[in-house]
Amino acid sequence: MTPFSVPRRAVLGGLVGAVAAPAILRAQSLATSSTPFTLGVASGDPSPDGFVIWTRLAPDPLSLHSGMPMRVQPVAWEVAEDEGFSHVVARGEAPARPELGHSVHVELTGLQPGRPYWYRFTALGAQSATGRGRTMPPAGAKLDRVRFIAAGCQNYEDGLYTAYRKIAEEPDIDFLWHYGDYIYEGTGMGPPHLSHGALPVRRHWADEPYSLDDYRARYAQYRLDPDLQAAHAAHPWWVTWDDHEIDNNWASRYDQDGTPPDVFDLRRQAAAQAYYENMPLRMRSFPHGTAIQVFREAAYGDLLDAWFLDTRQFRDDQPCGDNFKPVCADALRPDRTIMGAAEEAWLFDGLSKGRARWNFIGNQVMMMPLDRRRAGGAEPIWNMDSWAGYPAARRRLLDHLRDGRIRNVVVVTGDEHQNYAGELRDGGDSGQVLATEFVATSISSGGDGEDLRPDNVAILADNPHCRFINSQRGYMVHEVSRDAWRADFRVLDQIRKPGGQLATRKSFTVEPGAPGLHLA
Ligand SMILES: [Fe+2]
Repeated sequence: MTPFSVPRRAVLGGLVGAVAAPAILRAQSLATSSTPFTLGVASGDPSPDGFVIWTRLAPDPLSLHSGMPMRVQPVAWEVAEDEGFSHVVARGEAPARPELGHSVHVELTGLQPGRPYWYRFTALGAQSATGRGRTMPPAGAKLDRVRFIAAGCQNYEDGLYTAYRKIAEEPDIDFLWHYGDYIYEGTGMGPPHLSHGALPVRRHWADEPYSLDDYRARYAQYRLDPDLQAAHAAHPWWVTWDDHEIDNNWASRYDQDGTPPDVFDLRRQAAAQAYYENMPLRMRSFPHGTAIQVFREAAYGDLLDAWFLDTRQFRDDQPCGDNFKPVCADALRPDRTIMGAAEEAWLFDGLSKGRARWNFIGNQVMMMPLDRRRAGGAEPIWNMDSWAGYPAARRRLLDHLRDGRIRNVVVVTGDEHQNYAGELRDGGDSGQVLATEFVATSISSGGDGEDLRPDNVAILADNPHCRFINSQRGYMVHEVSRDAWRADFRVLDQIRKPGGQLATRKSFTVEPGAPGLHLA
């Protein structure tokens, strides 16, 4: 027992739940660690003069309170210009509060723009791992290149985080944008969610989360993964959430089980707090009841304006009974919204005023209108949880791009657990190309996958605006320069066993002034 450990609480038996955890994980949890820094470190939400540094004290991560006594614990932090900390440029102390799961969020200021810094924490006689953050370039500065990663959808049960190990090794990355599904609330999804009748590779430790402590434990289990920790330590992250941070396909105050909104709000409040506690977010994203500020913007010099959306918190409920359905009248209502009025006005206004060469819209669910009917199907099938269930909202955005002559817009999306490259056209699947969309696959959700799923042959044939589909796991690297936006689809041959091999499956470029896809 270390000085900061506490006796294990009876609740751990409940946390383990009905599923049999792999022996290695059970052993990991049953021994209280000699360090409170078991969940790693992270940086995020950079600015030209700083960024957030994050950690969370958890000597016994999966037990109640993660093994921390219920009092404020001071945590020292330091930031250096070099990995060896011979030139420390800032240091201080921050309280890890029991109200916030003993998480620490420090908003650094006064740093130099456009360069890396290294950071670490000390508490309870132990030192954390070292993380590498990066400040943004000066506002408006002439910039030749931005390189970023798009990643997300990391169901712990479906596979290993090999993709995160590869992400940690990607050179010259300005930031990682996480499109959501950082945790999954479901347990034991298995087939048909996993292909080929596969069983989960590893198990969630508990049943579905509802309370704050449930969600804290779920984040702790995910954050114990060393590959995920390496990706956090290597790059600054801009995080956004999608549905599984709370519940599958939630929409504002509605879940898919008909739970009364006042009751579902309690779950949203717990999940929102746990999300804030476990992410490198600024105070502007501090939870207030169920609300948390997830949509926000970032300017990388004169080259790239980024608009990170929140398409969950303010959307209308899914129409036509949700899921993959033929279109019904409710979907076509002209007042339907997927962002809500305030976020939509923020995006439209920002796009109109923006002066950067490129606009990057970080978006959760597919925007291009994809007809998902199977071969021989008689009528179009839409995914009502995507923008297809909100066609009026998509029409308003595309009208805004066309009428405002806003040309250099690239939408990057998650959610699908497949890679797609497509074009957002004025007439749906035909007409003037107004923007380009890349859908990034998943880190692990869905298991190994395959290159071209049989059902995608018909989808490619039925959707001329969709140029590429792949169903393997991985992430995307986007390299943005003055004369091209290059998008690389990185895929792994397998993730259910260690040693997955990474390859660039496909690359496209987009030219400024001419939205649409070119094979690289
Ligand atoms: Fe997902």
